[in-house]
Amino acid sequence: MSAVSAIAHPNIALAKYWGKRQGEGNYPAVPSLSITLAGMETRTRVRFQEGLLRDRFVLDGQEELGRPRERVVAMLERVRELSGLRMFAEVESKNDFPTASGLASSASGFAALAVAALEAGGIGAPSEHARERASDLARRASVSAARSVYGGFVELAAGPVAPARDERLVARQLPVPDAFRDGFRVLVAVATEAKKDVSSTDGMGRTARESPYYGAWLDEAPRLCARLREAALAGDFDTVGALAESSCLAMHACAMAAGIVYWNAVTVDLMAAVRELRAGGTRVYFTIDAGPHVKVLAEAADVPVATARLRAVPGTVRVIETRAGGGAALESGPHEASGGAR
Ligand code: PMV
Repeated sequence: MSAVSAIAHPNIALAKYWGKRQGEGNYPAVPSLSITLAGMETRTRVRFQEGLLRDRFVLDGQEELGRPRERVVAMLERVRELSGLRMFAEVESKNDFPTASGLASSASGFAALAVAALEAGGIGAPSEHARERASDLARRASVSAARSVYGGFVELAAGPVAPARDERLVARQLPVPDAFRDGFRVLVAVATEAKKDVSSTDGMGRTARESPYYGAWLDEAPRLCARLREAALAGDFDTVGALAESSCLAMHACAMAAGIVYWNAVTVDLMAAVRELRAGGTRVYFTIDAGPHVKVLAEAADVPVATARLRAVPGTVRVIETRAGGGAALESGPHEASGGAR
């Protein structure tokens, strides 16, 4: 069968997901809201082939075994189930940014894999229905990947409390005002090139088991997400920024109380630089995922001054400027139509 290639972008959660529903299916315990980022990408190629003895997964030029391969195989299994195909596949994936370091490579990776594998399996018709199928498939591998299937601002509801085996949970695009979306920038301040030591799945499992604040997080996260959603729909940049900071700090405080600290010294200095910029009148806000990097939310006009200040923080490896990007798309393009940034 022919090889199919897809591209997807990472996304940054403004209202964070942290914690899973109990049981199978990888359903989130809280709703989340993110922005899909142009400027960083994963490119994934899938080919189902007669004669292969098992699924192969090559990431950034290196064959992966163990857990990363198992997650890919689980997705391919589901595509085989849905399509009736019986062949194994070869999957090759490349990121143009550091893998597994809190830069959301699992989001773009599994979004690209879902779109490419469904198409390679012959069930990826370029319709809205197919995009929902890709979002659900991606979510089963990595919750945040469900959101990277769509472009622009994207929301994902919490999973059902007792999900039936095949219950669908898909992300959807949030219709924010054009000017708000087009002027929104995310500056990714890279705080190390090293891989992270606690995966988000392990981190949230431990948080649920051991954090005394997990119950408070489960109560608060939906409220924060609902308020952030309203602010985004109203195009209110400062309220979105302030709530994104609150969501990030609540998530990390909850995880830290279980002994999980994703930050390093550079992270803390970058947070201080953002606060200092704000005290001086530059409207910038930070958010941090399951890694040490700091993502700074800014409006386009403030990018030069904010970038210069972040670069001046000792230990900052680099600052990547990103903006709202499109959803996951086949390289030949049929998925592009409905998943763009708008
Ligand atoms: O989807 P996962 O398992 O990669 O976890 C993502 C967790 C956060 O990035 C910290 C939050 C989020 O909503 O993306």
